[in-house]
Amino acid sequence: MAIVKTFCERHGMTIPIVQAPMAGGPSTPELAAAVSNSGGLGSLGVEYLSPRQIEQDILRVRQLTQRPFAVNLFSPDADQPLAGDFAAVAEVLRPYHERLGIGPPEPPASPGENFVEQLDVLCRLHVPIVSFTLGLFPQAAMERLKRESIYVIGTATTVEEARLLEQSGVDAITAQGSEAGGHRGTFTTDAESVLIGTMALVPQIVDAVSVPVLASGGIMDGRGIVAALSLGAAAAQMGTAFMACDEAGTNAAFRQALLEAHEDQTTVTRAFSGRPARGLRNEFIDQWNNSGLTAVSFPWHNTLTRPMRRAAANAHDAGLHSLWAGQGIRMLRQGPATSIMDQLRQEIADSLENARRRLPAALQ
Ligand SMILES: Cc1cc2nc3c(=O)[nH]c(=O)nc-3n(C[C@H](O)[C@H](O)[C@H](O)COP(=O)(O)O)c2cc1C
Repeated sequence: MAIVKTFCERHGMTIPIVQAPMAGGPSTPELAAAVSNSGGLGSLGVEYLSPRQIEQDILRVRQLTQRPFAVNLFSPDADQPLAGDFAAVAEVLRPYHERLGIGPPEPPASPGENFVEQLDVLCRLHVPIVSFTLGLFPQAAMERLKRESIYVIGTATTVEEARLLEQSGVDAITAQGSEAGGHRGTFTTDAESVLIGTMALVPQIVDAVSVPVLASGGIMDGRGIVAALSLGAAAAQMGTAFMACDEAGTNAAFRQALLEAHEDQTTVTRAFSGRPARGLRNEFIDQWNNSGLTAVSFPWHNTLTRPMRRAAANAHDAGLHSLWAGQGIRMLRQGPATSIMDQLRQEIADSLENARRRLPAALQ
């Protein structure tokens, strides 16, 4: 497991755990700093934040930790021109806007934040690590990150995507299995038809590339981390596992729904953002599926459903909020992130010991 040691030493980590970036609230500066201070690698998911908000969050992490951390954006390749039947989607949203007491759905004025301006903050503040998902980074962005000596991590859901990322110059690759919560990182093919589990994906990507591979998707405890390392991963990237901890920005309704959820309740849906993402099935997803509609193009669909999602969070209405979560949800735990990290550290040791002890004598 030399790759694990090398990766950890490179980033000042004492435990091979990357806290996944979670845009939209859950991955706060407090969470990222707590995980980095515990010897893991914390991440901020800043895709939906303005350059000013990104700067504030990065400075806040720096107030809370001297250790390395990662900042994550989406590939601008994922952005599509406005297309689709806005009026039909607005009709699905309208009754929910009424229920939440907000004005009728409006066509979004702009798709979202400006990638170049966001990346500029990351480079200007010289963050140690930049990670990304939903595609490749443009060549100019990769060249700038390299010039600034920033370590770059891309996301792959197939071997082909991993190869493309390696060719583009990334320093490491997150292999995102289909169990994972949040958006599918898939960018070369139809995400819904290619849902490769972590167990199958990680070793195939490890065999195909020479950069370190981070395993992600469904890893919730020490057993999962040891399994990921056995498959050749340099570390485990865990998102859902941190969503109910004290420092996470997960809103109250979302948190409650996660704590009550089971492994058979997640689904991959385009209902909220227009791109496939895994989350808990709820009222809006069912209504969306019944409508038979096609989403407006990404990220416009995401911007269009934002007022409903924001109002739903304020009204504690989990039926109308995107509840991104992975299939390991039943193993979710609460408490301070440092305590979860301590438990994970102990579980890794126990799991390695147990694995050895359970083997037939001839294999010990
Ligand atoms: C609420 C939530 C938000 C996420 N947002 C992002 C994101 O902004 N960028 C990203 O690269 N991955 C994002 N992900 C995916 C994670 O990076 C990772 O692949 C996933 O959490 C791993 O699966 P797990 O949730 O089962 O641990 C998100 C996941 C969740 C649960």
